[in-house]
Amino acid sequence: MTHQILIQPKGLRFEAQPDEDLISAAARAGIRIRKSCANGNCEICKAKLVAGVVNTPEGRFDATHPDVNPLLPCVSRAQSDLILELDKVLAPGEIPLQHIAFQVQGVTPLSEHVYQVDLLAPAGKLADYHAGQYLELLIDGGEFPFTIASAPGKRELELHLGVDPENASSLQILKYLQSNPTVRARLPKGDVWLKPELNQLNLHDPLVFIVAGTGFAQAKAMIEEQFKHQHSALSLYWVNREAHSLYSDLPKQWADKGLINYHPMTSDCSDCEFFSKQTVQDKIANEINDISSIQVVACGGPKFVYSVLDGLEDKGLKQTQMQSDVFAYAPRPE
Ligand code: FES
Repeated sequence: MTHQILIQPKGLRFEAQPDEDLISAAARAGIRIRKSCANGNCEICKAKLVAGVVNTPEGRFDATHPDVNPLLPCVSRAQSDLILELDKVLAPGEIPLQHIAFQVQGVTPLSEHVYQVDLLAPAGKLADYHAGQYLELLIDGGEFPFTIASAPGKRELELHLGVDPENASSLQILKYLQSNPTVRARLPKGDVWLKPELNQLNLHDPLVFIVAGTGFAQAKAMIEEQFKHQHSALSLYWVNREAHSLYSDLPKQWADKGLINYHPMTSDCSDCEFFSKQTVQDKIANEINDISSIQVVACGGPKFVYSVLDGLEDKGLKQTQMQSDVFAYAPRPE
C-alpha cells in the first residue's frame, strides 16, 4: 500500500511504498533530501516526525534524543501517511544556494535612470540558476535583490539597475558597483521560472510576459531561454507610464525578426500603443482565442501585478496560470 508523505514547511508531497526508504521515495518524485552516509549514522538527513508511523531499524530512532521525534529518512520506511518537518530539502528543479564573488565588468547607462550591470563569475565557477530567478547583491551589510536579466549557462551575468535620485539605496548600489572591482552575491532566489511541467507546455501555446519598468529584466532572461527551445508563441507587453522607461530596443529587434509579439505600452509615446490598464487585458483577450491555454508571467510591483491579474481574471484567466514574484512577498489580501 502506498503512503502519502508531506514535507513541511515547503509543502512538498510524494508517495512512498512501505518497503522503500524515504530518501529514495522522495528522489523518485524529484525531491532531494540532503544525505551523506545513507545508513543512519551521520544524522545529516535528520527530520522531525510530526505525524504518522515509521519503521526504523533498532537504535536509529532515539526517543531520548534532544530533538523531538527525530527521524532519519535514509533508514526509515513509512507505515502510514506521514507529515515530516525538514529544512534541508530541495524541491524538484530547485538549485542550492551559492555565494559567489563576481567581477564587475561594466556599469553602462541604458537610459537616464537605468543601468546595465555586467558581472563575471570566477573562472571555473558557473552561477547556477533558472531563467526568471534573482540574486541578492551583498553590499555594506545589506542584501539587495535583482532579477538576473540574462539566460543561464554562461559565466557572464546581466542585471538592470533602476536608479531613483530619491532612493538612497539605489544610489548607494550604483556608487558601489562603479567603484569596486568585485561584488559578492547570493543566488539563486525566487520561485518564478518555467518549471518542468510548464516546459512540457506545447511550444505553440501562448506564453505572455506583462512587465513594468525594470521588470523587463526578468522577462528578458526567460524569453532568451525560450528562444533556445524555439517557443513560437511568445508575447511581451511592456507597460510604462513614460516613454523613457522603455529603456531597451531589444524587444523591437526580436519582434522585427518575428521571434515575439511585442507591445510597448506607454501614455506619452506617440509611436507606442496607448497605455491603459483596460487595454492590456483587452488586447490579450482579442489576440488569444483560448485564454485557458496561456501562461502569464507578470513582473512589476504588487499594485501593477494584481491589477493585471484582476483584469485577466475578468477575461477567464485562473491565478494558477500566472506567475509573479509578487505572489511570494505580497500575497493578495483575502
Ligand atoms: S544520511 Fe546519514 S543518517 Fe541519513
